[in-house]
Amino acid sequence: MIQFKKEIAKKIAEATELDISEIEGYIEVPPSSDMGDYAFPCFRLAKILKKSPMLIAEELKEKINIGENIEKIEIVSGYLNFFINKTSLIQTVLKELEEKQDNFGANNSGNGKNIIVEYSSPNIAKPFHIGHLRNTIIGAALYNIYKYLGYNTIGINHLGDYGTQFGKLIEGYKRWGNEYNIDENPIEELMKIYVRINDLCKEDESVLEACRENFKLLEEGDKYCTELWEKFRAVSLKEFQRIYDLLGVKFDSLKGESFYTDKMDEVEDILNKAGVITESQGAKIVDLEDKGLGVCIIRKSNGSTIYATRDLAAIRYRAKTYDFDKCLYVVAYEQALHFKQVFEVAKYLDIPEKCQKGLEHVQYGMTRLTTGRMSTREGNVIKVEELLKEAISRVNKIIEEKNPNMENKELEAKKIGIGAVIFNNLCTTIIKDQIFDWNTVLNFNGETGPYIQYVYVRTKSVLEKAKEIPPLSEVNIELLKDKESLKIVQNLYQFEDTLMQCVEKNEPSILARYLITLGQSYSNFYNENKIIDGENIDLQKARVYLTKCVGDVLRIGAALLGMEMPNKM
Ligand code: ARG
Repeated sequence: MIQFKKEIAKKIAEATELDISEIEGYIEVPPSSDMGDYAFPCFRLAKILKKSPMLIAEELKEKINIGENIEKIEIVSGYLNFFINKTSLIQTVLKELEEKQDNFGANNSGNGKNIIVEYSSPNIAKPFHIGHLRNTIIGAALYNIYKYLGYNTIGINHLGDYGTQFGKLIEGYKRWGNEYNIDENPIEELMKIYVRINDLCKEDESVLEACRENFKLLEEGDKYCTELWEKFRAVSLKEFQRIYDLLGVKFDSLKGESFYTDKMDEVEDILNKAGVITESQGAKIVDLEDKGLGVCIIRKSNGSTIYATRDLAAIRYRAKTYDFDKCLYVVAYEQALHFKQVFEVAKYLDIPEKCQKGLEHVQYGMTRLTTGRMSTREGNVIKVEELLKEAISRVNKIIEEKNPNMENKELEAKKIGIGAVIFNNLCTTIIKDQIFDWNTVLNFNGETGPYIQYVYVRTKSVLEKAKEIPPLSEVNIELLKDKESLKIVQNLYQFEDTLMQCVEKNEPSILARYLITLGQSYSNFYNENKIIDGENIDLQKARVYLTKCVGDVLRIGAALLGMEMPNKM
């Protein structure tokens, strides 16, 4: 595709003899399209060139030879507004789509770079809560987008399958195991045991002590404790897998915290040699007070390791195994301090500098239901699997009411219900808290997954009515210069850039918002224009062709977010 922005930057750079990438960084997209397609704020150069923005604008306009891809340049209060040639724009977009087809927007900007995306990471024997749902969805979307841009991407589910809570569970199971039906309903039953033993621990310090002892035994490989732990892990994974299957999410690695059991002594050694470990009340710590980060415990006074120690061992292992350029942790913002500490201590590990610099906490906000926040300890939790199934059954009901004869009802309901939940998790800036409300999530006219699917299905039905999609060679580009068509073409042109922004900011919501915009542009186009027009065959061909392009890009974009498109709605 023609890189209009680059071309403009090049022209300005030549005229000013300044650095092209600096110039490119200054170029903006004006708030409204009657102000042009790109704008250059001349005040940016006022200091360097020692001239007023107005004067710079006039001189630049004079000097720049616009060439065939730019239609005109206008000066508006110190800005140079560039209007790109519409024919060039439409041609380049449609040609690119025809050439790249289902790979439209993909590129190889990530070639040679290894990116780890760590996501989901639920805790075994505990419910997969709505926060895990959110980060599973965010992580999977990031994973897909990175991959699409040529990065060597590794998706890791860092299962919380270790820690003192297992000492507690083992203790509870030892005491009351036969009262609970673990095989039938594992997580719910284990949770009951957990809540019960936790209560007992609050009352009786000696029980808590016994729990800690159990965990220590587990770390030392004690047979009874290990077998129980393995059982808890297996039954939990089976439950989680049902959720992953519903969402269509996969991982390249399922190495959880327990994998690092035998890799923590080395971490301690290295930190010791680096001279950063000190003792505090019997525990081994790295003091980060001078950086305002408190202390990071490496080993507790009873010899047990903690969450942070396992994260440090994981960083080392991942650096050696994957030589990562970036390791993204999609984890709630509540854990910000934990990651700051771990990343700080990781500076003392024997890993390449690029790995140290590539550690990044991708924070996301809480999901709130009308009932308020949920916590595991109180045992008041909504079940994610039930939520997903409810989404499907609510869609089923709508289909029964509105379109009872629809083909493959069940399958389509699943795509729509799951798609709705996925999109809802991605449509706002991920760090923001969000409220989960069925009326919003499933609103077919809102800024939702179903809306995007609905527009997609509309493009399909237009294509069906048209019966034939012309080849690009039969499309008269001049017929796509009306306001609504042009808007679509401009949106399509932005697709690749949108994906690049998503990885630059680790923000899949940029793609979600993009799809809404594209959907709205198509709706306007559909409302304003007669597409199937037996009288004017050339116009029909052009509009049908554009319709196909919109459908393709909606489908590609939605797939990157993890959504499937229904055939009917
Ligand atoms: N299992 C943790 C939780 O559910 C999240 C793990 C995050 N990843 C990590 N490397 N610490 O809160």
